[in-house]
This record gives sequence, C-alpha cells and structure tokens, in this order.
Amino acid sequence: MLARALTEEIRPDYTMDQPYFRYTGTDHAVWRQLFERQGALLQGRACDEFLSGLAGLGVAKEGIPQFDRLTEALMKATGWQIVAVPGLVPDDVFFRHLAARRFPVTWWIRKPEQMDYLQEPDVFHDIYGHVPLLMNPVFGDYMQAYGEGGLKALKLDALNYLARLYWYTVEFGLIRTKEGLRIYGSGIVSSRGESIYCLDSPSPNRLGFDLLRIMHTGYRIDTFQKSYFVIDSFDELFEATRPDFAPYYEQLRREPQIPSGAVLDSDRAIHRGTREGWDPRPDA
Ligand code: PHE
Ligand code: CO
Repeated sequence: MLARALTEEIRPDYTMDQPYFRYTGTDHAVWRQLFERQGALLQGRACDEFLSGLAGLGVAKEGIPQFDRLTEALMKATGWQIVAVPGLVPDDVFFRHLAARRFPVTWWIRKPEQMDYLQEPDVFHDIYGHVPLLMNPVFGDYMQAYGEGGLKALKLDALNYLARLYWYTVEFGLIRTKEGLRIYGSGIVSSRGESIYCLDSPSPNRLGFDLLRIMHTGYRIDTFQKSYFVIDSFDELFEATRPDFAPYYEQLRREPQIPSGAVLDSDRAIHRGTREGWDPRPDA
C-alpha cells in the first residue's frame, strides 16, 4: 500500500513517522507490564524530578504512547520534541538532534522474553527512561548543551571521553536528596534489576560527581555498573559542564584510563563497594 510505504520512509536525518499501526497487542502488553513494574519500584527510588516529569507527560500504562502527544506536553514545558527513529543513529546525527532539542526515540518495543535485559535501546527505555527529565528546564538545557558538546568532541576526536560523561550521568546517574540517594539515570529507571541494585546492593561504589574523573573512567555495557557517580543537583551538573572541554580533552589524553571499579584517594566515596559477585572481565 502506497500510503503505508510513505509513512515508513526514513528521512536523511534518520527520523520517520512513528508507525503506530505496526504495534501489536503483545507490544502494548509488554509496555503495560514494564510500566507497572517500574512504577511500583521507583516510588522512593527515582528522584522527584523524574517522577513529576513522568506524571506531567501523561505517559500511561495503557500502551505505547503516541510520540506527538508527548511532544505537545514537552513543547509547553521546555521546548523539547520527540522524533521517531529506527534504532541507534550515527553519533553526529544524534548530537545534531539533541542540539536542536529533538530527542530521537527508537519506535519498536522489546519481545516478551526480553523483559529484563536488552542490548540496545527500545521505545520503553527511550521514552520511560529519558523523556521525563526533559520536562525539567535545567536537565533539558544540559541535554542540549551535551549535543553541542558532542559535535565539538567529534571534531576534536574526543568522543570516547564525552561518551563516558553521558554514560555516568544521563544513563546511570544518582542524585543526593534530603531523603537519601535517588536515581535519575535512564538506564537504571528502565531496568528492574539495576533500579534495586544501584541503591541497595553493597557491591558497587557510590562516588561524588567529578567531571574529569568520570571522563577518565571506563565502563561496561553488559553488566550492572561497578561505580555510580552522585550529583547534588542538576544545577551542579550543568555548571560543571559549562567550561570549554578542549583543554580537558588534552589533559585526559595524557593520563591513563581508570578502571570502572576503582576507588581513588581523591574520590569522595559515599559508599565504597564490597565488590561482591563482580564479573572480572575488564572495561571496554
Ligand atoms: N562545555 C562543553 C564543551 O565545551 C560542552 C558540554 C556541555 C559537554 C554539557 C557536556 C555537557 O565541550
Ligand atoms: Co539511553
């Protein structure tokens, strides 16, 4: 059918219309299960900014949301938009979208047998994990600045350093509140196992945020983290990343990588991990 073929066209910037007609009953059921499971778990674990962003977006448990509806709420709150993409996009494309306050979201959802683990981001990770914080003005500005910083890092051949910052903040960040440590990282909030492990397990380190230290630190994408970095506020994160990173990258090139499980004398350790049950394979 011509109309169908047209709606699934992938544009040069990798965006496409969300092919809503392609979602099956099973797809929506997977969404419902993930949504309900995380909702119950994240009370008292996720930070208030995440929980209020989620509520404000009107993302519901009924089924996979229509991206255009979410964009309406986002636009009003912070001027962000959601764009549908087929999956991971090239780095330069990703950064250009972020710099223009467009968040690329993978349209498809995982299979029922992948409820607990998935190698690549799907619509649940991208929407539930990332979009609620885009309702927050400071975090929204941070993400845009990150996109601009990404384009610059590409030119300076320094993306490996900047990618670690994304990993340890946007994907796996913790934040300190009066009530205790809370989660804001999207890779955690979209994972049942890690949303418990990151706060409750004695194994991993929980270390105070330190920009250069983070950009020095390796990471593994296939297990729970060995170290989490804790910010005190989104303002702290945004302010720390304001300076020109070019001199930082030069410094980083001269120093060796820090293994993901290491604790240094200079670290502000909130919790020094017991390393119980750690996988001995080295960092990427
Ligand atoms: N200030 C950084 C630079 O000059 C850009 C940046 C902003 C990077 C926010 C990450 C987060 O490259
Ligand atoms: Co992600």
